[in-house]
Amino acid sequence: MDYPLVVGNWKMNLSLSEAVVLAGQISRNAEYIKHVGIVLAPASVFVYPVLDAMRTRPKNLFLGMQNVMWEAEGSYTGVVSLGMVKNVCKYAIVGHSERRKYFGETNEMVADKARFCLDSNVTPIICIGEQEKFNLEDHFESEMKRMKTGGGILKQIEESLSKIKNSEIDKVYFAYEPIWAIGTGNSATGIYASAISYIVRNYLKEKFKVDDGQIHILYGGSVDEKNVREFVMQPNLNGLLVGGASIKVNSFCEICKITSEAKSGK
Ligand code: PGA
Repeated sequence: MDYPLVVGNWKMNLSLSEAVVLAGQISRNAEYIKHVGIVLAPASVFVYPVLDAMRTRPKNLFLGMQNVMWEAEGSYTGVVSLGMVKNVCKYAIVGHSERRKYFGETNEMVADKARFCLDSNVTPIICIGEQEKFNLEDHFESEMKRMKTGGGILKQIEESLSKIKNSEIDKVYFAYEPIWAIGTGNSATGIYASAISYIVRNYLKEKFKVDDGQIHILYGGSVDEKNVREFVMQPNLNGLLVGGASIKVNSFCEICKITSEAKSGK
């Protein structure tokens, strides 16, 4: 898909009836929002009711999982597998920083999950992000080193893609989400997000021998209808991963509309 993607990560929010109402409202709006792929990622227990609420689903509206397992079935208490939402969820968020923080998810697990997504015909959205803001202006060399080592974002990518072939990179999305910006109301600036995405792009191009057109990077972290323009104007970004604002119908639809207008040059 060559148009931008806006992913709504509903996290552990909403009651069943609220989720169904929200999905219906977004579904009706999505018909009029062209040139944008819209993904709703509800709690997994709501996936089927949300699908029902999207029955008149426009072609640009999809469902996603907030998390996946690297196997189809087995003794994994409390986990939902991709096989259980077969042909329903087209996208899956993998390695979100909250999964890494609260559930000990490692790059190795992310690599297995991303592999399983591709084998299941599901597009993985691999989340990467730094704990503390970069200062590229004053400390370029040391900040680049920070990206490539330890929990650095380039290290996260390298290890998360360990089971993905070069020819598959265009089937993967990355969500660049600075951890300090998630849920804080303190988003990155468009320029900052674009600069880091540029570094990520170059890294991928060199390491995996791919072209710009094969790389998809979303920005996430306190995106709302007021700051969305900053991000969608950036050529290095291909869309957004939205948390808090994605469960407010007006905010989310506005974010999708502004993305559509910016990318279609209106
Ligand atoms: P936020 O969440 O938009 O509430 O910062 C983004 C995310 O966690 O994906």
